[in-house]
Amino acid sequence: MADDAKEAIDRALADLGARFPARFAAAATEQALRDENAKISGKKGELTVLLAGIGKAPKAARRAIGEAVNELKAAVEAGFQARLAEITRAARDLDLGARPFDLTLPGRPLPAVPGHAHPISIVREEVIDVFRGLGFAVFDGPDVELEENNFGKLGFPPDHPATDMHDTFFTTAGHLLRTHTSNIQVRAMATTPPPMAFIAPGAVFRRDDDLTHAPMFHQLEAFLVDEAVTFAHLKGVLAEFAERLWGPNTPVRLRPSYFPFVEPGAEVDIGCVFCKQADGTRAGCGLCKHTGFIEILGCGMIDPVVFTAAGLDPERWTGFALGMGLERIAMLRYGIPNIRLMFENDPRFLGQF
Ligand code: PHE
Repeated sequence: MADDAKEAIDRALADLGARFPARFAAAATEQALRDENAKISGKKGELTVLLAGIGKAPKAARRAIGEAVNELKAAVEAGFQARLAEITRAARDLDLGARPFDLTLPGRPLPAVPGHAHPISIVREEVIDVFRGLGFAVFDGPDVELEENNFGKLGFPPDHPATDMHDTFFTTAGHLLRTHTSNIQVRAMATTPPPMAFIAPGAVFRRDDDLTHAPMFHQLEAFLVDEAVTFAHLKGVLAEFAERLWGPNTPVRLRPSYFPFVEPGAEVDIGCVFCKQADGTRAGCGLCKHTGFIEILGCGMIDPVVFTAAGLDPERWTGFALGMGLERIAMLRYGIPNIRLMFENDPRFLGQF
């Protein structure tokens, strides 16, 4: 009886071993092949059932049957993989044959923003545009400057603490990296007879590097020299500037301040762009230190000492000057809270402008 069981299993194994290759070969699709494989090796498959029947065979024969089952299992698995590869290859060949490459198809589109001006450049052009419209012309100057053009002729006494406030990079004796664009006032007055109205955009350098300061940043200076220039002219230009960049009804506020080359001097604030509400009011925020106002530039009436140093008669000539940091203006123009973003050149940031 037990021997009969062994013989029955042997026969079933031999039978399955002889027929599974034809069964796999008959499967035309991957799904048909997988179904056929499941019928043999699946949880309720023929092989599994056979294996479960081992218990009926005599003890002495079980080991040999187990080995034979495992051998067949491996052969079935190999047959399945080989047929699967055949079917996959045939499907791919069919695909390639049916659809040859169409070389006339249009290529993939380039990224929507292939590259464009940096926000600082955009804002610089905007500001230049405002001042050009008011009759100012661009006056260029070098980054490496004479110490006297950056400080002395602007009324900074030698060793005056104000020179510390600029944290200067000195190069060779008497030379430095300009700490502001106000040096252009000196250069313009030395070469151009008044009246004059100039703007000077450019890089400036200070030994400063923290969350809100970078060792190199950009300024834009504007100044005008003529007879009978008053603070009202300055205010008019400031109002026009604020309106053009931040829209009409932007609050503008002047606070007295000190710069050696202007008298009187002021700092200009506009209504904070970060906490501005839909109705135009300001709630106050950390960025404006809860004042609702945020500083945009320094300005004032050109100090007579600057005219005297330039060889111009301070009794005859008057003028105003203003200087702004372009990073700051760009941040306030676009609502960017962190100056670092300006220098990191992350395409995810730059792509937004
Ligand atoms: N040069 C000043 C600065 O760098 C800004 C300024 C320019 C102030 C012109 C008054 C007039 O801070």
